[in-house]
Amino acid sequence: MSSSSCPSSPAGTVYRMTESKTWSRWVTPRAARDEPVHRWHLFPHSFTGHLVHALIDEWELDGQDAVLDPFAGAGTTLVAAKAKGIPGSGRDLSPLAVLISNVKAANVSRSRLASTRLRLRNPLMPSPSVVIARDYPPLVRRALPKGRLEAFDALAARIHHLDCPPSERDFFRLALISIIPCFSHAVANGGWLRWSNDGVADGTVEEAFNARVEMMLSDVPDNAAAGDGRDGGWTTSTADARMLPDSDETYTAVITSPPYPNRHDYTRVFGVELMFAFLDWEGNRALRYQSFHSHPEARPERPPADEYVAPGRLEQSIDHLKDARIRRMLRGYFLDMHLCLRELARVCRQNAKIALVLGNARYGGRAILVDEFTAELGERAGLACQEIRTVRWRGNSAQQMGKYGRLASRESVVLFEKR
Ligand SMILES: C[S@@+](CC[C@H](N)C(=O)[O-])C[C@H]1O[C@@H](n2cnc3c(N)ncnc32)[C@H](O)[C@@H]1O
Repeated sequence: MSSSSCPSSPAGTVYRMTESKTWSRWVTPRAARDEPVHRWHLFPHSFTGHLVHALIDEWELDGQDAVLDPFAGAGTTLVAAKAKGIPGSGRDLSPLAVLISNVKAANVSRSRLASTRLRLRNPLMPSPSVVIARDYPPLVRRALPKGRLEAFDALAARIHHLDCPPSERDFFRLALISIIPCFSHAVANGGWLRWSNDGVADGTVEEAFNARVEMMLSDVPDNAAAGDGRDGGWTTSTADARMLPDSDETYTAVITSPPYPNRHDYTRVFGVELMFAFLDWEGNRALRYQSFHSHPEARPERPPADEYVAPGRLEQSIDHLKDARIRRMLRGYFLDMHLCLRELARVCRQNAKIALVLGNARYGGRAILVDEFTAELGERAGLACQEIRTVRWRGNSAQQMGKYGRLASRESVVLFEKR
């Protein structure tokens, strides 16, 4: 790891800047594609379990500690903390993230899941039918045409009727939801959905579901002592990182990655999954509005923040932008970051360690220094920025590159300690 320049905020604070090449592979989900359990469902922009393990070792956490991930996403922090025996909790606004995180971290037994699975094939269970039980939004119907939605719906009904603990039912729900991209004509492309006829799986939905269940089962330890899945801790609940449900001074560590201000909207990227399994059209729109202001369509209801002072160099980074929606998004993004840091300062104990994986952005040719601005906001919220560790350099968007040339943006881990 190398130490480099020390920029200073307008307030005169000097941050320690370091660079780690080893960590560059750990801030993209690529390496997790083949990792047991993590591979069940990945989020774009997720980090890997290696990063969590490295931080747990660096901070020398043990079973007396308690880790929080307030943007749990695909549950990487919880799964990695569980593997190391460190108690942990997750929060996320999205019901899809809550399901993924809970299923991955549940304490279930392979043999029990295998016997529950046999009951899924029981002839007395509701059989596949051409009648769709739910009134799915048009996006879901368009994404899964030609009998595919009927096949998904029938399997969802069978899973729903299983007589088993909720954690086992959720295991099969996740298996079903996670094969939607294999059949969907709405394809996630970066931060957007595009319509496509390519790549739709050859076999049937039932075949793909069975293969997914096999793969997931092969990752589950055969722990006959496992209870109903929820007794081991490491649970994630639905909550807003700006208004955490936790008591003051609960945690000794936080490892998380808030959404980047890159306009990607998870309610669109995962729109088919969310509206197939959890939300109607209005519910999905409400989730879009309430999410972190990392995309222009967010319009969250926030707790009061009269004390908020924006990062000193924010306005000079955005005053040239013609698009008022992007200016509003970036202002809202740092207000949200302030609210989240204020909550982290509240729920963390003194000397707690906090790591935020963040990506800088570029709009209209100018850099938005998300890591340095976040360090400045954290200092004001009662956290001491120990280090900004650059882990990767990313190219700008094709649009920005065409106009302004290639200018790489930092991806960093901002490390704080609660004062
Ligand atoms: C970058 S992802 C986290 C990825 C995660 N680190 C992983 O490894 O999978 C950001 C997450 O923040 C969630 N999110 C957005 N706004 C939120 C909010 N206000 N409170 C809590 N979670 C939020 C999204 O649903 C998404 O799951």
